[in-house]
Amino acid sequence: MLKLHNLKEDFKPEISDDQLTESEVLEELHALKRTLSEKMVVLGHHYQQDDIISLADITGDSLKLAQKAAGIKKQYIVFCGVHFMAETADMLTSAKQKVILPDLNAGCSMADMANKKEVDQCWKYLSSSTDQKIIPITYVNCSAELKAFVGKNEGSICTSSNAKKIISWALDKGEKLLFFPDQHLGRNTCFELGVPLEQMVIYDPGKVNGGLTKEQIRKAKVILWYGYCSVHQGFTGEQVQRLKKESPETKIIVHPECNFDVVQSSHINGSTTKIIETIAASPAGTSWAVGTEINLVNRLAERFKDKKIFSLSPFQCICTTMYRIRPRWLLSVFRSIKEDKPINVIGISDEIRIPALRALNTMLEIK
Ligand code: 13P
Ligand code: SF4
Repeated sequence: MLKLHNLKEDFKPEISDDQLTESEVLEELHALKRTLSEKMVVLGHHYQQDDIISLADITGDSLKLAQKAAGIKKQYIVFCGVHFMAETADMLTSAKQKVILPDLNAGCSMADMANKKEVDQCWKYLSSSTDQKIIPITYVNCSAELKAFVGKNEGSICTSSNAKKIISWALDKGEKLLFFPDQHLGRNTCFELGVPLEQMVIYDPGKVNGGLTKEQIRKAKVILWYGYCSVHQGFTGEQVQRLKKESPETKIIVHPECNFDVVQSSHINGSTTKIIETIAASPAGTSWAVGTEINLVNRLAERFKDKKIFSLSPFQCICTTMYRIRPRWLLSVFRSIKEDKPINVIGISDEIRIPALRALNTMLEIK
């Protein structure tokens, strides 16, 4: 069982089913949102459930939400997403503003697959294996501590929307790339940029020296961390092949956190925003199989009734940590903001914030 970092165990919503029904909760949430609009902004990631999205002032993928957070002037930013996203927003806003994550247990299992101690160990081993310049790039899905590591080592952060641009920058700047924690986004993007699979190796933190010899490191162009998203891992190459046979008219679009096979055999891959924009721009009557989180897929199907939209997988690919943000937990947050006694505020020490912000700003500045 993966351990979620910095998260409180056993957090329970203060408002029980006996106190308020779900529709009463929603009614109060919408009323409070109107009252608090002067001082509060609600951000919602595309994987949030519909009731939460109905309360969001801004919806988006992880890049858009980070960019929007940087421009917000209001005192309270309620982040309906997961822990690393709220931390990112906190770094990009002023010390006077408060970023709130409605459930502090809403983590990301992929982000938990790399910690500072392991990355330090890996960096030490890589540096002792080669004199070539290695640029570390972290997917935004990681702790603030790892963003700080990258900031201290001349690297950058990336999201699934800008991975190509950022990795290309890193490959120009250094001779090798260390990419963590998502091996799939790293492999899919590097391959698209022309790096052959033979020049990519996997560093597995569970193995001695990551399971790599110094010679393997010297020969590699890209070192990929052994991490993955358990939700996107649910999509398989067989599902793609079966669908292509059974429904040749269906277009298959997947998130780049899916494995290499899935991405290579699909028609299109891209971030949650790219998935939404591509489907929105397609003509009526088009059929789409989508390889990403089910809340987004269902919402797309609801929004574009003139198109056939369904999940690539017959199994429910749900991000259970995103799903932790529930209306009644959000109500506890709104009530606390009303009293100016906010709960679940994200806090990052300056020691971490300053270098992490450097890496974030590098990402936002790379053209
Ligand atoms: P996006 O960058 O597309 O929002 O994806 C974030 C994420 O966690 C996908 O699993
Ligand atoms: Fe993390 Fe995967 Fe959930 Fe995205 S979908 S937040 S990568 S566990």
